[in-house]
Amino acid sequence: YSDPMADKFLQCLTQNLNATDSEFVFTKENIQYSSVLESTIINLRYATSTTPKPLAIVTPLSYSHVQSTILCSKTFGYQIRIRSGGHDYAGVSYTSYDKDQSPFVVLDLKELRSITIDSSQNTAWVESGATLGELYYWVSQESQNLGFPGGICPTVGVGGQLSGGGFGTMLRKYGLAADNVIDARIIDVNGKILDRKSMGEDLFWAIRGGGGGSFGVVVAWKVNLVYVPDKVSVFSLSRTLEQGGSDLFDKWQYIGHKLSQDLFIRAITQAAINEDGNRTMEVIFNSMFLGNVDKLIEEVTINFPELGLEVNDCSEMSWIESILYFNNNPKGESIDILRDRIPEAKFYYNGKSDYVKEPIPKERLEDIWKWCLEEDNPILIMEPHGGIMDEIDETSIAYPYRKGYLYNIQYFEKWEDESIESSEKRISWMRRIYENMTPFVSKNPRAAYVNYRDLDLGENDSADNTSYSEAMKWGNKYFNNNFRKLALVKGVVDPNNFFYFEQSIPPLITSE
Ligand code: FDA
Repeated sequence: YSDPMADKFLQCLTQNLNATDSEFVFTKENIQYSSVLESTIINLRYATSTTPKPLAIVTPLSYSHVQSTILCSKTFGYQIRIRSGGHDYAGVSYTSYDKDQSPFVVLDLKELRSITIDSSQNTAWVESGATLGELYYWVSQESQNLGFPGGICPTVGVGGQLSGGGFGTMLRKYGLAADNVIDARIIDVNGKILDRKSMGEDLFWAIRGGGGGSFGVVVAWKVNLVYVPDKVSVFSLSRTLEQGGSDLFDKWQYIGHKLSQDLFIRAITQAAINEDGNRTMEVIFNSMFLGNVDKLIEEVTINFPELGLEVNDCSEMSWIESILYFNNNPKGESIDILRDRIPEAKFYYNGKSDYVKEPIPKERLEDIWKWCLEEDNPILIMEPHGGIMDEIDETSIAYPYRKGYLYNIQYFEKWEDESIESSEKRISWMRRIYENMTPFVSKNPRAAYVNYRDLDLGENDSADNTSYSEAMKWGNKYFNNNFRKLALVKGVVDPNNFFYFEQSIPPLITSE
C-alpha cells in the first residue's frame, strides 16, 4: 500500500534532514503503523475502523525532526495533530474530523521524554512526551521531600496536561501543574525553537492553561518542584445513600474548598449495591493530607466530624506511594510501575465538566442521584478548589477558574461494549444529566475544563474558516475572560491557523 501523499511527505522530511534514515516516520505502508498509532489511544471510541487516520505518524527523536515535520506539513498543506500522552477525551491529538477531510500527520512526542532535575534549585526540565508518572517517579528518586502538583492518572502526558492546567491532590496547596511552569521550549509555525525569553510573555502566558494544540509544539517545560513531607496520609471512605451519603456530600460542599491547604478531599459518586441488594448511589470521599494521620484526624474531626473518620480508615505513606494509591494500584505494588508508560486499560469513554459556585441545595441532591441511576455506570468526580487557588489571579495564566469556584464536576462514563447503540445510549444520558444540572452550576459562562475536552460545546468549521465569535461558544466556557487574549496571541503567533483542530483557538487579528 503506497500513498503518494505520504511518499511526498517522507521525501521532504529526508531531504530536509539530509538523512537517509527515517525510522521515526510511520506511513500506512509500515507494518508498525497501527501499533504506533494505537499505542496511546486510551479512548477506544477513536480507534475504530471508521476513525479518520493520519497519512503518517512521526515520532521525533530530536527537535530537528519536529521542525522538519512542521515545515514539510506546511509545504504540502497537511494539518498536524500533536500528541504527548494521547489522553485527550475527544481524541483530537491523533484523529481529525475536519469536514474538508484534509490529510493530517500525527506528531507523537513519545520519544522526547527526558527529565533533568536540578535539586539545588528545586526545578526540572521535562520533555512533553514524558508521562506524569515518569515525572513523579524521577522527582521522588531525587528527594523524598520533592514532588510535583499534577493530575492523578500517571499515564497522562506532560504535554497535554500542562497545556490545559492540570489538577490533582496538591491543587489546594500548590495550584495547577501549569501554575508551576517557569520556562518552556516551543517550536513555532516557522520551525523556530523559542524559550520563555524569545517567545515573549504573551505566548508564555497562553501555553499555560490555554489548551494544547493551538500555538505550536511545546517540546519541554521547566517546572518548579514543591516540598512534600516524608509521609502523607490518605483515606477513602464510602457511604451509600442509605448510610447518609447525601448528607455528607451536602456538608462537603460547604467545607471541601475551605479546609487547610494541606488537605484535599474529593467526592466521587457512583452506582453501588446496598445491604438490601438494591441498586443505590455511593459517595466516596477520597483524600490526601500533607501530614501524618494524627493531624489528619484532628483536621477532619474539627471540620467534618459527620464523616466519623477513624485512625483505621487512614494510611501513612510516602508521597510517591500515594500516587499509586490514587491510581488504585494494589497495596505493595512497586513504584517502578510509574515508569511503565503503557496505559493500564483502554476503554470507551465520554466526559463533560462543570464548576459549582454555590452549594447545590440539599433537597435537590436526590434528583441528581435519581438521574445518575438512570444509567449503568454513572460517575461524577468532584474536586475542590479553594486554598491557594483563591489567591491566584484569574489572569495569571490562561486557566481562569480561581476564587469563587468551589469545585469542579467531571461527568464520566466508561464502557466496554463497542456497539454504536451502546455509545449513543451513554452519550445521550450524559447530555441529559448535563442539561438537568444547568440550574446548579456556574452560568455566564457555564464553565468547563479544557482538559476534559467536550466537543458538544462547539467546534471550528474548518481550518480556512474559523470564526472567533463561533469559537466563543466553547472558548468562553473553557477560558472565560482570558479567551480574547488567547485569540489575540494566536493571531500574532499563527495568523494563518496552521495549528488547527476542532477546538483550536482561532486567530483574532484586530487593527486596534
Ligand atoms: P494528548 O496527547 O491527547 O493531548 C491533549 C491535547 O494537547 C491535544 O489537543 C494535543 O494536540 C495537545 N498537545 C499534546 N501535547 C502537546 C504539546 N507538546 N504541545 C502542544 N500541544 C500539545 N486531568 C487533570 O487535570 N487531572 C487528572 O487527574 C486527570 N486524570 C485523567 C485520567 C484519565 C484516565 C484521562 C483520560 C484524562 C485525565 N485528565 C486529568 C485529563 C488530561 O489532563 C487531559 O486529557 C490532557 O490533555 C492529556 O494530556 P496528554 O498529553 O495525555 O494528551
